[in-house]
Amino acid sequence: MGQASLSFGFGLPRKLIFGRGSIERLGEVVEDLGLSGKALLVTGRSFAKRSGYLDKLKEILESNGVTVAIFDRVEPNPSAETVELGAELGKREKVDFIVAFGGGSAMDAGKVIAILSLQGGRAEDYFYPAVIRPPILPVIAIPTTCGTGSEVTKYAVISKGLKKNTVAGELIVPIASILDPDVLSYLPKDLLAYTSMDAISHAIESYFNKNANPLSDIYVFEALRNILEYFKDAYDGSINARERLLYASMLAGKAINLCGTTIVHGTGYYLTMKYGFHHGLANALLITQFIEHASNLMPQRTLEIGKRLGFNPRTSTESTELLIGALNELKKYSNIPLSLKDAGVPEEDLEKIIDEGMSYERNLKNFPGTPSRRDVEELVKRAFRGE
Ligand SMILES: [Fe+2]
Repeated sequence: MGQASLSFGFGLPRKLIFGRGSIERLGEVVEDLGLSGKALLVTGRSFAKRSGYLDKLKEILESNGVTVAIFDRVEPNPSAETVELGAELGKREKVDFIVAFGGGSAMDAGKVIAILSLQGGRAEDYFYPAVIRPPILPVIAIPTTCGTGSEVTKYAVISKGLKKNTVAGELIVPIASILDPDVLSYLPKDLLAYTSMDAISHAIESYFNKNANPLSDIYVFEALRNILEYFKDAYDGSINARERLLYASMLAGKAINLCGTTIVHGTGYYLTMKYGFHHGLANALLITQFIEHASNLMPQRTLEIGKRLGFNPRTSTESTELLIGALNELKKYSNIPLSLKDAGVPEEDLEKIIDEGMSYERNLKNFPGTPSRRDVEELVKRAFRGE
């Protein structure tokens, strides 16, 4: 960092609309991007239907001359089997583009269905380190949570067995994203807290990252400032505050597009698959120890983030304490456990968790120096005790 020369690259949606009621502009987006023919609406199993948004999206598309097929079978942490099923429908219906409406699960599933519908094969054929090549259907992403950032990223995470696998490539960045804060008024409190913890994790893992640069830092600071300021009101239901969290999660998504995630996500994946913890909760259970580990290695960066967040720290140690203190306050406010132990993880599982964390090499490599097993072990054991 410091005086090093600038070098980075990332893709973004061609069109991004943010604002209350912006879902009504789906027709305009379709028209601006020259999309036509048949759309596959990809959603989770209940919210889209229950909230009336499924009908609304269908109506808007149809009134713009687009016919619609629906795939509403996406589960949390979508499986390879599910996206293969979605792609079968996409292929059968000969769809021309995809509208993915939901949290990270529906958007990630939509991205991979976009590949499989045209190229066939199994989901695992496209897992990293596979290179994603054309053809691929265009995806319009509409987030309904405030964490994943998938609406702006080149990543999709697909489960197979107890593993989470990443599909990554510029071609799966959605062609357009519509971020409508009104949709977040339906988000239950616990999901709001968990998904915000995911966004926090994206920001912090991007900051303490081999690929961090002045541009990703801007996204990180702006994302964290908004989350720290608006989290509690958003949790209590304020739509104005939820709007800020949706904005922040999109920015944190841009940061991971530049940097990639690291130890927290790598290790958290197993916690989700083994114990069913929400992805954001899994990250929340590891983030404190990650900040401590990173701040020992990067005291200057630690001091800098504390200053940029307005904590006015005098030393890097003080900055670490203030940042962790601020995050713990949010966790307590939203009833998030402060240790793996409190979350119900048995102590005898720790070695397995460490081994699984080490298996996500792609994530580990994004951290300066690439963490050793000993580093991950210390992080996980401290996270277990909550110290
Ligand atoms: Fe995440």
